[in-house]
Amino acid sequence: MINLKNKRVLSGIQPSGDLHIGNYFGAIRQHIALQDENDCFYFVANYHAMTTITDKEQLEHATFQVALDFLALGLDPQKATLFIQSDVPEVTELAWILSNFTPVGLLERAHSYKDKLVKGIQPNHGLFAYPVLMAADILIYDSDVVPVGKDQKQHLEMTRDIALKFNHAFGDVLVIPEELIMPDVAVVPGIDGQKMSKSYNNAIEIFSDYKSLKKRVMSIVTDSTPLEEPKNPDANTVYKLYKLFATPEEDKQMRDKFLAGGYGYGSAKKELLEKIWNYFEPARKRREELTENRDYVEKVLRQGAAHARERAQQVMSRVREKSGILRFNP
Ligand code: ADP
Ligand code: TRP
Repeated sequence: MINLKNKRVLSGIQPSGDLHIGNYFGAIRQHIALQDENDCFYFVANYHAMTTITDKEQLEHATFQVALDFLALGLDPQKATLFIQSDVPEVTELAWILSNFTPVGLLERAHSYKDKLVKGIQPNHGLFAYPVLMAADILIYDSDVVPVGKDQKQHLEMTRDIALKFNHAFGDVLVIPEELIMPDVAVVPGIDGQKMSKSYNNAIEIFSDYKSLKKRVMSIVTDSTPLEEPKNPDANTVYKLYKLFATPEEDKQMRDKFLAGGYGYGSAKKELLEKIWNYFEPARKRREELTENRDYVEKVLRQGAAHARERAQQVMSRVREKSGILRFNP
């Protein structure tokens, strides 16, 4: 876990599908842990999700679901600010201003953009400019620290580059954020052993029902070592996932059983299934309550948005004033 104090922390999650346990251990759990000793801003990146979702209902639904997920998993609105990206529309204004300090070559070198091209996706300007909007998300709140997974490292470097170019033109206007790549929770494997991802159809969702969860866990790919033979725990996905949920003693017990032989993947999968189900039981209950209580969730999002927007407006006044953007209507 990261150890930070008294920092302005900001991070965002795209509402591009149901959250999975990779998102939890790789991002959300750490976001929530930071709320006790820092000034944390977390948002649902719905403008960003428009680069992949073009269905109105789907976008609306997914946006609200991610907000529910954050709250159910322990985000405390008394401690952290939770909001929807589009509730602070000034961020798109800043993105435009920053565009003028973003070399096209920098965007062309973005891995996530290049990956999409390789996959044959016809790029539009939104996808190309994705990192500029992300830079605006970060800079508009004077963020010190941005906790993200390794896959976002380059986007953060781009944010710093863009901010430095802007400051070079107008003085020290923007706060240059520190990088903070989440420590070695590293990559949570999916049921096929590759990185778990919404887009690889290998994810174990946090809030699926028992039957679907069971189906996912039982279909984790394993090798064909016979039951009686010893097995290498470090080379099997069932153990790697179990480890995330287990106490050190439980972890050791499963390791020893695999090493001793006579212990099959089927039994291990059953233990894993129970662990995942029980681990998220309290969050699942909270999520059900929150779903019944939409007014409360909307109130949290309204208050979060007001707080975030107030800070964003202060930064925008500074940015406009320093860069010569006149406004006669406040
Ligand atoms: P996905 O790959 O499922 O689309 P996102 O890119 O939306 O996930 O990731 C949201 C956050 O969750 C990011 O901070 C990312 O680094 C983290 N994350 C996603 N998948 C994993 C994984 N398999 N292991 C660890 N962290 C992950
Ligand atoms: N690009 C991030 C992801 O896919 C989501 C995101 C958008 C973000 N804006 C951000 C993360 C600002 C951190 C800060 O995971």
